[in-house]
Amino acid sequence: MRAPPWKIKVVEPIELRDREHRRRALAEAGYNTFLLRSEDVFVDLLTDSGTSALSQEQRAAMELGDEAYAGSRSFFRLEAAVHDVYGWRHVIPTHQGRGAEHLLSQVLVRPGLLVPSNLYFTTSREHVVLAGGTWVDVAVPEASDPESTAPFKGDIDLAALERVLTVAEPEGVAFVRQEACLNMAGGQPFSLDNLRAVRALTREHGVPFVLDATRISENAVFVKDREPGHAGRPLPEIIREIADQVDGAVFSSKKDHFVPIGGFVAVNDDELAERLKELVVVYEGFPHYGGIAGHDMEALAQGIRESADEAMVRHEVEQAAYLGGLLLDAGVPIVVPVGAHAVFLDAKRFLPHVPQAEFPAQALAAALYLEGGVRSMERGIVSGQHGDEPYDGLELVRLTIPRRVYTQEHLTYVAETVIAVHELREGLSGLRMTYEPAHLRFFQARFEPLTPMLEGSATTWRAAGRA
Ligand SMILES: Cc1ncc(COP(=O)(O)O)c(C=O)c1O
Repeated sequence: MRAPPWKIKVVEPIELRDREHRRRALAEAGYNTFLLRSEDVFVDLLTDSGTSALSQEQRAAMELGDEAYAGSRSFFRLEAAVHDVYGWRHVIPTHQGRGAEHLLSQVLVRPGLLVPSNLYFTTSREHVVLAGGTWVDVAVPEASDPESTAPFKGDIDLAALERVLTVAEPEGVAFVRQEACLNMAGGQPFSLDNLRAVRALTREHGVPFVLDATRISENAVFVKDREPGHAGRPLPEIIREIADQVDGAVFSSKKDHFVPIGGFVAVNDDELAERLKELVVVYEGFPHYGGIAGHDMEALAQGIRESADEAMVRHEVEQAAYLGGLLLDAGVPIVVPVGAHAVFLDAKRFLPHVPQAEFPAQALAAALYLEGGVRSMERGIVSGQHGDEPYDGLELVRLTIPRRVYTQEHLTYVAETVIAVHELREGLSGLRMTYEPAHLRFFQARFEPLTPMLEGSATTWRAAGRA
């Protein structure tokens, strides 16, 4: 792995609490890693969202934040960064990605309309459903196969999309959504060829095409590395070409743009922009700040420019590849190819003896915390099942790498922890859900283990010298 294109200037101490402390903390958190206190976590790979390190340029820019309610200089700097890097005409800031998804769904979705997309993202789907729409999965089948080594598992199945567009024609479809570095499939990119073909289909059927551009920069790196004909191109040019294919985009800027808070919706159409601006004042704030502060917009504007810096983006992707490589070498089942921002453990193969109804990925995430103080996130039946419909889809644990935060030694430690749990896997049982929230249940659901978690192995741990 190449050395990072940054060095550390400010540090935050972290501490590995002892096993008994971790056991208590996990029980108090209802075996849900979201409910742990961060001070009880050693290496925090819950999410890459809002957890990146700011650059010195971002921190300096924050000093220039113009906190005017309306007409803020910081908004115009943000707008200029979006124009320069992506080219979309109108920018409406929001407090984070789901704020942008909310506005877009309120404007475009009406009861009965369809939203075809490559797989789903939790908040994206929830906003469409709350607006009365129906989510339709048109991902390529490889997206749901953790063992498929297809290079572009974020592609849309063009025949499936065409069927939906033909049957619904065009007033039945709110918009077509394609997500960059498809999170739920393991951070898997789409190809530029596929994006262009979706553009052509949506144009032919007169339906808006919206990108979830949250991880557009990493997607552009994969296009450069994997898609014939792009190897020699500068990254900013590929990013711009991706942006040029769509009518608009939503962003959670907490990922690629390295900011702790913020997002936006960007569109080219004047009338759509007006409708979004009419609503942003209801839900987020004046269109010149949309729920974030002037200094947040400064950090975001600078972060957008940094997100087109190939060395910066490539390092993130290489960190995931490094961690994935250690796990593959040790025979741990993970989603391949390793994606953009995370390594995803395949809990169905990791814990084949735990039925999906007993939440194997949730149990595995809890065990990783117990074993090594490593926090990860369930991305299986708890996140994926919506209402009472049957779910037999992917059952993954996401080890997400915050940008510019952890060193190679941290990642090696994480791999050792995962490998230790893999060695103990036969003793791990599933969970029972004791509390199920009405919306996005994975955030706050509570569980109990069906048998005491990893209890009998204390001697093995001590023999292996693990705390
Ligand atoms: C692909 C994708 N879309 C949307 C969102 C929602 O963004 P936020 O968490 O900023 O509301 C996320 C965040 O995790 C995401 O990964």
